[in-house]
Amino acid sequence: MGSLMSSTFLAILISLHFSNTSAQTAAPGPAPSGPTDITAILGKAGQYTTLIRLLKSTEIADRINSALNKGNQGITIMAPTDAAFSNLKPGTLNSLTDQQKVQLVQFHVIPSFLTVQQFQTLSNPVRTEAGGSDWQFPLNVTTSGSEVNITTGLTNATLGNTVYTDKTQLAVYQMDQVLLPLDVFMPRPPPPAPAPSKSKKAAASAKAPSGTSEETSVKSSGIKSLIVHKSTMLLYFGVALLAATLLSVS
Ligand SMILES: *[C@@H]1O[C@H](CO)[C@@H](O)[C@H](O)[C@H]1NC(C)=O
Ligand SMILES: *[C@@H]1O[C@H](CO)[C@@H](O)[C@H](O)[C@H]1NC(C)=O
Ligand SMILES: *[C@@H]1O[C@H](CO)[C@@H](O)[C@H](O)[C@H]1NC(C)=O
Repeated sequence: MGSLMSSTFLAILISLHFSNTSAQTAAPGPAPSGPTDITAILGKAGQYTTLIRLLKSTEIADRINSALNKGNQGITIMAPTDAAFSNLKPGTLNSLTDQQKVQLVQFHVIPSFLTVQQFQTLSNPVRTEAGGSDWQFPLNVTTSGSEVNITTGLTNATLGNTVYTDKTQLAVYQMDQVLLPLDVFMPRPPPPAPAPSKSKKAAASAKAPSGTSEETSVKSSGIKSLIVHKSTMLLYFGVALLAATLLSVS
């Protein structure tokens, strides 16, 4: 339910984003010589049949084309080759829901135009189209000269050759690896139910007093009980912190 809600929310954000850009009347600027068609560009480059299929089935190709042709939004696409897709574990794509396929493709789209040099100016984490206006689906970039490395937490990859650039709006770079977003391939575990965390607390408090050598070496029972008291306080403080953390995560 939660994920359905957030998918719906994401879908709304995406459509808002794109309708916003299309609502802006065509920016005064050089008229393009013809409508930009991302699948045609990739088709001409060869070796992108899987990506083209995904761009079409998710309808992201249409959105990219209309964003590019309506306004002055820049787009950078990190385009995994067919070889990159065939290096994935068998069944990876088929295991994804339609929504996850959309997220996977959008993860390869940065909503601004970037030359190779401009990758150096990015600060981490870098927002991708999959993240909408919040900061899900980030990736990190490290550069050295014209070498650009990208890490997602699951995939380390290097930005490849420029497949296409119109020098103002659209840049497409070859990727020899599919960038796997953590949010899709390693979803956060569901927050633990209250019951187990309660028993954890009980187990912890049962264990705690049977404690330290300090404690046993202390002769005076007064000091000893003070020490025990202090460590119990610390323990409760720890449990409270843990509970607060769990609550804020869920
Ligand atoms: C990019 O990754 C390659 C291969 O892992 C590594 O040798 C290189 O030092 C990295 N470069 C940067 C700028 O991180
Ligand atoms: C990405 O960079 C941010 C900020 O430097 C860091 O907190 C995060 O752990 C990095 N993530 C990965 C997957 O490297
Ligand atoms: C990616 O690179 C980081 C740091 O260089 C390394 O710790 C990690 O194991 C690498 N991950 C993969 C999947 O190669």
